[in-house]
Amino acid sequence: MPVYPNAFSLEGKVAAVTGAALGIGRAVALGFAEAGADIVAIDRDEAGARAVCAEIERLGRRAVAVVADISNASDVERAAKLADETFGRVDVLVNSAGITRRHPAAEFPEADWDVVIAVNLKGTFLCSQHFGRLMIRGGGGRIVNLASIGGLVGYSDTVAYLSSKGGVVQMTRGLAAEWGKHNINVNAVAPGVVMTPMQEKLREANPEKFESFISKMAIKRPAQPEDIVGAALFLSTQASALVTGHTLPVDGGYVAM
Ligand SMILES: NC(=O)c1ccc[n+]([C@@H]2O[C@H](COP(=O)([O-])OP(=O)(O)OC[C@H]3O[C@@H](n4cnc5c(N)ncnc54)[C@H](O)[C@@H]3O)[C@@H](O)[C@H]2O)c1
Repeated sequence: MPVYPNAFSLEGKVAAVTGAALGIGRAVALGFAEAGADIVAIDRDEAGARAVCAEIERLGRRAVAVVADISNASDVERAAKLADETFGRVDVLVNSAGITRRHPAAEFPEADWDVVIAVNLKGTFLCSQHFGRLMIRGGGGRIVNLASIGGLVGYSDTVAYLSSKGGVVQMTRGLAAEWGKHNINVNAVAPGVVMTPMQEKLREANPEKFESFISKMAIKRPAQPEDIVGAALFLSTQASALVTGHTLPVDGGYVAM
């Protein structure tokens, strides 16, 4: 007899994933479908969101694509409504949509500051708020935020991103404290370097910085998007029933060194 049956299963659950068209969000959407979930794939990239839904359907799960800008409250409200109309509930939200802009702090353009904070910080909150309401109504749920090691340690030329991700780490604690009574666990995953289109651009722009980063990891290799799925799955399932308010680095040991 298994000691702890189906601890990592999402069978019968509905998971909404932002940024599902690409990178980590796409890997999470596919990995969660493999674990049994039906998926609400939210992205501003319509073709990408539809493509991941087609892949999910080939896995035998239901999927709906929602084109939305997570920094826009009415888009997010519409996304939550569509998820509710399609599936009648949402059990898990993974906030993966995010962007970065790189400039020295002394020259950081105000517009770039605003857009990074709007997507990474406000967008994560808006999605948590609107999907959180569905979870409160349904009696519980799980929220997993994609923070970053940039929310835990500092580095150069990315001050808006670091500020947004530090905010996400604190938002994770704040929502966990407030929504424990609703049976909603709120946690974050903090990746280091993950080879997605976002990271490929950073590597091309500054290969020395990339290599120096890898050299400071205990396990000296960049992650693939699939490396993040296990942590997100753990934080979305019964296996982590009493884990909340936590930020879990998936960084090859970078912040531990
Ligand atoms: N790649 C890394 O090395 C790394 C490291 C640490 C943290 N993260 C975080 O993980 C998350 C995913 O990163 P990624 O590398 O997979 O990114 P990515 O650029 O590969 O994909 C991001 C996805 O989010 C979507 N998106 C962006 N802004 C949006 C908006 N306003 N509304 C809706 N969709 C939007 C994009 O269309 C894209 O599909 C981000 O929050 C990022 O900050 C990434």
